[in-house]
Amino acid sequence: MINKDSPIPIYYQLEEKIKGQIEQGELKTGDMLPSEREYADRFEISRMTVRQAISKLVNDGYVYRKKGTGTFVAEKKIEQPLQGLTSFTEDMKTRGMKPSNRLIHFRVVPATSYTASALNIDEGAPVYEIQRIRLADGVPMALETNYLSESLNPRLTEEVVQSSLYDFIENKLNKKIGEATQIIESSIVTEKEMELLEVKKGSPVLIIERKTYLDDGTPLEVVKSAYRADRYRFMINMKRN
Ligand code: GLP
Repeated sequence: MINKDSPIPIYYQLEEKIKGQIEQGELKTGDMLPSEREYADRFEISRMTVRQAISKLVNDGYVYRKKGTGTFVAEKKIEQPLQGLTSFTEDMKTRGMKPSNRLIHFRVVPATSYTASALNIDEGAPVYEIQRIRLADGVPMALETNYLSESLNPRLTEEVVQSSLYDFIENKLNKKIGEATQIIESSIVTEKEMELLEVKKGSPVLIIERKTYLDDGTPLEVVKSAYRADRYRFMINMKRN
């Protein structure tokens, strides 16, 4: 129920209530939410307050608006644990989803000062630049650009990167992937990302930069990815020392 005497803002109470209904499955993916008027009547609150609550839920990716129709419950976000060093292919398979890739380009370019220092190679040395859209069950999740040294990763081809890169590195090149560092920051889509990820202008994305090393410490890849923030969230377990 909504408690009007509570110091907790009314829009927030309503937002939490709807969120709870979604999380507990009372409202399921694709269900239409009651209209603003219905909520306003039911809880005797203003439509402005209802709109504020729904807008927050839209921004957080719980629901989406369809022009002229109503507001619907969105698909659950994919929750990605940050503990293990996994590949996109593995992540999707663990969830019972089908991974696929759409190759945007595969080319060899001279290392810039950024890629050269990340990969510990000379500036101008040849690096693979691989750009792929990563899809789960046919839905675009991320736009990803990998840079790898050409001389350290022979036999890398367009065909190979249509499936798992890590699988190729480990099982065909027989290298051992050791560890990675990852930085995550928020942003909004660029024009290009907007088209390729099939989202609206101004949609939020999580920009991830990963540097991966082989177990002997050799840099393997530096990767920039833009993950759809409406479909993804990251989870980490923390222990207090
Ligand atoms: C994730 C990481 C990338 C890594 C990729 C490998 O998406 N963000 O840094 O290159 O996994 O995935 P796969 O082996 O499926 O090509």
